[in-house]
Amino acid sequence: EVNLHTDFLLRVEAYLREYLSKKSDRFPANSLARTSRISSPDEWLFEQPEPMPASKNTLDKILWRRSLQLRDRQEYWEASVEGRRMVKSRRSLPASKQRDSVLTAISQNQVIVISGETGCGKTTQIPQFILESEIEANRGAFCSIICTQPRRISAMSVSERVAYERGEQLGESVGYKVRLEGVRGRDTRLLFCTTGILLRRLLVDRNLRGVTHVIVDEIHERGMNEDFLLIILKELLSRRPELKLVLMSATLDAELFSSYFGGAGVIHIPGFTYPVRSHFLEDILEMTRYRLTPYNQIDDYGQERMWKMNKQIPKKRKSQIAFVVEDALGAADFKEFSPETQESLSCWNPDCIGFNLIEFLLCDICENEGPGGILVFMTGWDDISSLKEKLQIHPIFGNPDRVMLLACHGSMASFEQRLIFEEPASGVRKIILATNIAETSITINDVAFVIDCGKAKETSYDALNNTPCLLPSWISKVSAQQRRGRAGRVRPGQCYHLYPKCVYEAFTEYQLPEILRTPLQSLCLQIKSLNLGSISEFLSRALQSPELLAVQKAIEYLKIIGALDENEYLTTLGRYLSKLPMEPKLGKMLILGAILGCLDPILTVVAGLSVRDPFLTPQDKKDLAEAAKFQFSRDHSDHLALVRAYEGWRNAEEESAVYDYCWKNFLSIQSLRAIDSLRKEFFSLLKDTGLIDGNKSICNSEGNDANLTRAVICYGMYPGICSVVHNERSFSLKTMEDGQVLLYSNSVNARETKIPYPWLVFNEKIKVNSVFLRDSTAVSDSTLILFGGSISKGDIDGHLKMLGGYLEFFMKPAVAEICQTLKKELD
Ligand code: CDP
Ligand code: MG
Repeated sequence: EVNLHTDFLLRVEAYLREYLSKKSDRFPANSLARTSRISSPDEWLFEQPEPMPASKNTLDKILWRRSLQLRDRQEYWEASVEGRRMVKSRRSLPASKQRDSVLTAISQNQVIVISGETGCGKTTQIPQFILESEIEANRGAFCSIICTQPRRISAMSVSERVAYERGEQLGESVGYKVRLEGVRGRDTRLLFCTTGILLRRLLVDRNLRGVTHVIVDEIHERGMNEDFLLIILKELLSRRPELKLVLMSATLDAELFSSYFGGAGVIHIPGFTYPVRSHFLEDILEMTRYRLTPYNQIDDYGQERMWKMNKQIPKKRKSQIAFVVEDALGAADFKEFSPETQESLSCWNPDCIGFNLIEFLLCDICENEGPGGILVFMTGWDDISSLKEKLQIHPIFGNPDRVMLLACHGSMASFEQRLIFEEPASGVRKIILATNIAETSITINDVAFVIDCGKAKETSYDALNNTPCLLPSWISKVSAQQRRGRAGRVRPGQCYHLYPKCVYEAFTEYQLPEILRTPLQSLCLQIKSLNLGSISEFLSRALQSPELLAVQKAIEYLKIIGALDENEYLTTLGRYLSKLPMEPKLGKMLILGAILGCLDPILTVVAGLSVRDPFLTPQDKKDLAEAAKFQFSRDHSDHLALVRAYEGWRNAEEESAVYDYCWKNFLSIQSLRAIDSLRKEFFSLLKDTGLIDGNKSICNSEGNDANLTRAVICYGMYPGICSVVHNERSFSLKTMEDGQVLLYSNSVNARETKIPYPWLVFNEKIKVNSVFLRDSTAVSDSTLILFGGSISKGDIDGHLKMLGGYLEFFMKPAVAEICQTLKKELD
């Protein structure tokens, strides 16, 4: 009773606070009474679930009274006109036909795996079946169902949909919780949350006290969080024999999960879709007489260069799919197509998403095809927004009386999300530009046409550069089929693939699970930040684990850069790094840049390292292009040259001036734009970690100090260092592991005859015949000593010893002296 009493008072207080701080029109009166909106991220993590009745008396009665409400509400709703309509539409979903077998399987097994096509009703129906059966059985008094979603947007939109299907406001029996936001009330029995939220709850509440059912949705995506969660749940199940686990997948890979859990029950929900006709690039060209034009615009220089560069790199190192695509195109037999189509195909650039072709197809569909929405799969937010901008000024697509043009991606606002599900007025065609979020996790009903660019960016991983990132990469066959399937939900549909069929044939069958794609360093940091114990032991229990040797190497690297200490514990630095979803070295630069007040140039450097090089080097104008880049160099640094180039672009405000500037300086507008949007993204990520408070000027007080920026770059790049050895006319470079190394010809340092610094730090080296360094920055002895590695409090000796190793190797006694002095000062 005491507990309940305080609980009640706390809620009254929360309610009053909410009421006073927010405008009351945002909180309709009936939802105010029961729901509490949570704004602090941790509030819920530490909130204990509802108390279980200790005696059959007081607590029991109160819980009983509350659960009566649940049942009454459901009966009342199902008897209303609207409710009957909803029950009917729910019954028409394929999942409803399996309701009984699903419930029986759950009652007989601790774990079951449910597979079924996207849209068959897994996400919205299965959790409700469980909820309803609990309400029938014991009025829902003691059940608590958690359903995880890989993305926040699906957790939010699904919970809203389910509440709507139950004739309730969000926060009654259904709620949701994502980072920094959530709605839940005291009657809430079904909670949709992101996988990350459940992981964090597991940290503070190892046994998930009070939770009766965990449903893990979209497991076919094999996201890292889901894989993590499965490892933890597998262990938890033996400790909580009454806990039920339901796994849901949109593809037919149920066996894999079933055997991981020692032969869990499997249920397949057969679905129904209308046939969808596939058109590949060659068919589209043939059918529409559209011609691809040779790429001669400035933006495409870079892509051409990238492509050529790929060709020089030995098979093994090369990004696997790029290689396969090249082979596929070479081997393809296009003879049955007209000569124009064949010629046009030879202009096809696999690195380029054809905006013009998409626009052309959209026009073609709007003018010549029957009704039905169009879903366009693009790579990411930046592509979507530039295409949307382009379409908005088009006479057809910009006219709201003819077209409802929408974007759908992970970071959109919730009012935008709702528009996606809305039916357009008659005569208006809905066009949705989406990321692969619309592949399986969000179902849009009235789509009859799909345009698929064949790429995805969200969780891609560039094998060539070994960086997690932001470069679009080809999807898998399964994904392509999923995308195609979106067109056949309400009537026979059509799917336009913007790549030749032979390229589709070269796609991998499934995408590698994220846990195997993510660079191991980030993965190790994640495991540590989630407190999951020894990295290698934890990973050995995964559904599929990465190679042990590679894991050990990654741990070693994290120790060198100061993210883990000797005993494999996260350092403070490591803790911050684990919150930044980028390579640790880039995260390090951002953190120190913010602390030392030169965040602005560092944001540019880090964003620049995450996208394609904006400095273009077309083969026929190599010298001119390299000379143009050299103009930006004043500090023997490619990274600082990029900072200047970017600033020049930002200062050229007018559209024509921008083009002029880029053309003159051989810069890719696309890359510069991508850098611009990434800078914003990184800035808000830093804000989220609590390192900066959003006041730009504070973290930029020293933004113009090139030497400081240089030091921060050194901090990030270490241990990527090489020594500069001068001889009479020029200089040579040496690293400890490779001996002699060379610079890429487009590095500004390659044009110098002398470098007035003893060291270069670099981001990556590539072995072709010799070892080549890509971008580099020259640094002085003292910079290297102070910023190379990370001087942790107790370990100045170790740090100096490590550096001393380098110094001795390169025989720079002067530096050893500096070391000594420094050590005295530090002591
Ligand atoms: O999870 P699964 O892909 O199997 O399907 P679902 O998300 O449960 O969706 C089942 C049906 O609910 C879809 O076919 C849509 O018709 C409908 N739905 C909706 O209208 N609005 C939403 N926000 C979500 C689903
Ligand atoms: Mg679903």
